[in-house]
Amino acid sequence: MVELKLANGVDIPQLGMGTWQINDRDNLLEIIKTGYGLGYSLIDTAAAYSNEMAIGKVLEKLGIPREKLFLSDKVWNTNRGFEAVQEACRRSLKKLKTDYLDLYLIHWPASPKLHDDWKKINAETWRGMEKLYQDGLVRAIGVCNFKIHHLEALFKTSKIIPMVNQLELHPGMPQLDIVSFCHAHDICVEASSPLGNGEILTNEKLIALSHAKGKTVAQICLRYGVEKGLILIPKTKNIKRLQENREIYDFSLSPQEISMIDNLPYCGGIGIDSDEVTEFG
Ligand SMILES: NC(=O)c1ccc[n+]([C@@H]2O[C@H](COP(=O)([O-])OP(=O)(O)OC[C@H]3O[C@@H](n4cnc5c(N)ncnc54)[C@H](OP(=O)(O)O)[C@@H]3O)[C@@H](O)[C@H]2O)c1
Repeated sequence: MVELKLANGVDIPQLGMGTWQINDRDNLLEIIKTGYGLGYSLIDTAAAYSNEMAIGKVLEKLGIPREKLFLSDKVWNTNRGFEAVQEACRRSLKKLKTDYLDLYLIHWPASPKLHDDWKKINAETWRGMEKLYQDGLVRAIGVCNFKIHHLEALFKTSKIIPMVNQLELHPGMPQLDIVSFCHAHDICVEASSPLGNGEILTNEKLIALSHAKGKTVAQICLRYGVEKGLILIPKTKNIKRLQENREIYDFSLSPQEISMIDNLPYCGGIGIDSDEVTEFG
């Protein structure tokens, strides 16, 4: 599996398995077992997905050596703050039956719309993330859904720059400005919903391009992420698609094709605005 390097030197697989809305333990076992066999080692979960315990049980059952996996988790909005984020991380470690995470992310920034002191809340949560990193409980730390103003505010107090920003990003939502900003600050961008939660797959221009390339629309979307240097975590409950989503390194997109995709009209998959997000998502 192709790997990218985070700012602290940690290698992260470019392609991983998203697990949002996968809660059934049996299906999880089949997905992780097959995915691992195909070379997927990055598993993206979150406290909010309510599947950490199921993933922990599956990993224990499969007996995959811990160092062969790249486990990524996220702290939920109700656990912001210096102490709370550390307690939340320890709870997640217990559920996943591991003593460290490869990547720990703040799921959403505190939103200016709901919190007058959003900068202070984010700064304190980040201080807790830095402590987890210094204590060796997590190999890398980052954020999700942070816009430029959230990051600029964070930079004023942070000792460590986030290593990753996980954002909804796919054809129809290319997020060009924040990607450039992150890359200029050595922050890896991880595309959540790289298939637009399935919504972008019926786009006519992408279908035409997929025919021209002899690839599926999903593969075009994922290759677009590869061309942009992103980490990608598509989610599938369908075992056959695990293989399909992996076959993205045997073709490329031309600058013209990339530009066409950059300019597709907005098509949101999840489409939550992080300046409006509530404690419940
Ligand atoms: N940080 C955040 O706030 C945040 C937000 C959203 C998502 N995420 C992470 O990103 C991951 C991926 O995002 P997502 O789950 O929203 O959606 P996604 O990966 O963009 O799309 C998933 C949808 O596409 C379908 N699909 C997958 N592969 C396909 C293929 N080859 N051909 C056709 N359809 C295909 C899936 O159906 P089947 O399952 O039936 O294949 C599912 O309906 C999540 O699981 C989660 O880990 C993070």
